[in-house]
Amino acid sequence: LRPIHRLLSCPRTVAAEIKREEQSSGSVETGSEGRTPKKTFSEVQKERREQAQRTVLIHCPNKISVKKFLKYLSQHGPINNHFFYESFGLYAVVEFCQKESVTSLQNGTRTPSMGTEAAIPFRSRVFNLKTKNPSNPTSEQSRVQCSIHAPPSSKKLLELLCYAESIDDQLNTLLKELQLTEENTKLRYLTCSLIEDIAAAYFLDCTVRPFGSSVNSFGKLGCDLDMFLDLDEIGKFSANKTSGNFLMEFQVKNVPSERMATQKILSVIGECLDHFGPGCVGVQKILNARCPLVRFSHQASGFQCDLTTNNRIALKSSELLYIYGALDSRVRALVFSIRCWARAHSLTSSIPGSWITNFSLTMMVIFFLQRRSPPILPTLDSLKTLADAEDKCVIEGHNCTFVRDLNKIKPSGNTETLELLLKEFFEYFGNFAFNKNSINIRQGREQNKPESSPLHIQNPFETSLNISKNVSQSQLQKFVELARESAWILNQEDKDRPSSSRSQPWGLAALLLPSVVNSASLAKRVRKKPASERIKSLLESIKSSGPENATSTNGK
Ligand code: GTP
Ligand code: MG
Repeated sequence: LRPIHRLLSCPRTVAAEIKREEQSSGSVETGSEGRTPKKTFSEVQKERREQAQRTVLIHCPNKISVKKFLKYLSQHGPINNHFFYESFGLYAVVEFCQKESVTSLQNGTRTPSMGTEAAIPFRSRVFNLKTKNPSNPTSEQSRVQCSIHAPPSSKKLLELLCYAESIDDQLNTLLKELQLTEENTKLRYLTCSLIEDIAAAYFLDCTVRPFGSSVNSFGKLGCDLDMFLDLDEIGKFSANKTSGNFLMEFQVKNVPSERMATQKILSVIGECLDHFGPGCVGVQKILNARCPLVRFSHQASGFQCDLTTNNRIALKSSELLYIYGALDSRVRALVFSIRCWARAHSLTSSIPGSWITNFSLTMMVIFFLQRRSPPILPTLDSLKTLADAEDKCVIEGHNCTFVRDLNKIKPSGNTETLELLLKEFFEYFGNFAFNKNSINIRQGREQNKPESSPLHIQNPFETSLNISKNVSQSQLQKFVELARESAWILNQEDKDRPSSSRSQPWGLAALLLPSVVNSASLAKRVRKKPASERIKSLLESIKSSGPENATSTNGK
């Protein structure tokens, strides 16, 4: 925890700060932070999913008596947990202790009559609470305290970073401020569960699971919600009921390929979301993509959602990243900072294109941490060696086996600081031989590129694929230049301290400033020095700078 004097000196109010601390520390209970024994990914998923199934979402009047509201709902059974948040009005997330309470609430709820419009009578778990006498507010009705679901503004974040005591502290502050809160995580699982209700109208017993950054421990407040419609569980339990000479099968429709089946299923679910899904707006069916998906906004939660099916490997990738994120506390801090740095310099974008993705950046950080001496993270091959029979997993012919119990993985003996790792990350990739080498977290060492894409990062499970095939030469070049510039800035900081003035953005904060401003301030700082020193620094910064001749620092 940060010292209280620093909380007080921050521009943010102490109350909001403490709330955020509480929210973020909530994730400890899910096993995403350093606590032993740590929960496995599937244990966390199962627990969260079960919680979400007992939860409802209620749109409330702006002013409400929380006490009366909770008393009113308790008619249907005891409440385990609740919180409020704002998104197109005030919403309450209410988790009952038992699932039956949800049915009881649904049974006591009416479908509205709409006047000139007509309502689709779909009975979901999203409700509107109306007050019978809106013109007669009671004294207990007041504005409720809302949990925060948006990241702090860039300005606030920079201020907080400037208040930090060291670069290590800056990286940890950035993680604390941007990571998903306990409430936000709950809302993500609830949203999946609500979509599952809709999909289950067609595919009874289907499961909608969150994947990607919502669950892999690298999610930032405001990130999209990737959902996986899992149809494989269907019929799993009845499959063995054979007796005597008979075997019963469902009569089904056949289509020529898996891909077509996926497209048909997603097309129907997309229609359902569009026509019946409360608050599902802007539904787009993107069925011809490599991985077909339905994209929509879930208004009540405020999430941008991508729904896919037949995408089990991505779920396994999320589990792998979750493991890497939980193994060492430095991993998430470094990944968040690198992602934030990349976003600040427009190296990543929310629009698909020739830019590097957050997923690729995470792989680069993992690879870099595997290359330290001693390594901070184990290779995927060594995680495979630690696996037992129960961990065995083959998806569509790809071996996706790795140890799932975090407690079986030996912690690293490496004690390098985050400051050093950040600087070395920029130096390592500022000098990486991208033109001939491929990044490979399975073996934890560079390999010759099997094809000519500018950036080659081997897909950890479908090993013949490159996850960064989309990245153009110019985007890669921009990444390399910014990495070098950032390494240079951090090296200068080293030299300037302790005389440097802390009134200016420093350390990580300086790296997040837009590049143009950065270059100007860089030029100014360079100019302040005598010519001989300037030239020396410049020469140092560009020493062995060609990506092709820079393998000498590899393997650190
Ligand atoms: P955000 O940018 O925070 O959304 O990160 P993310 O990890 O959720 O990335 P994204 O939403 O783009 O993708 C969701 C998940 O799909 C990732 O975590 C990966 O598991 C998987 N994924 C994304 N891109 C690729 C890719 O190019 N190849 C493969 N094999 N999987 C990918
Ligand atoms: Mg995502």
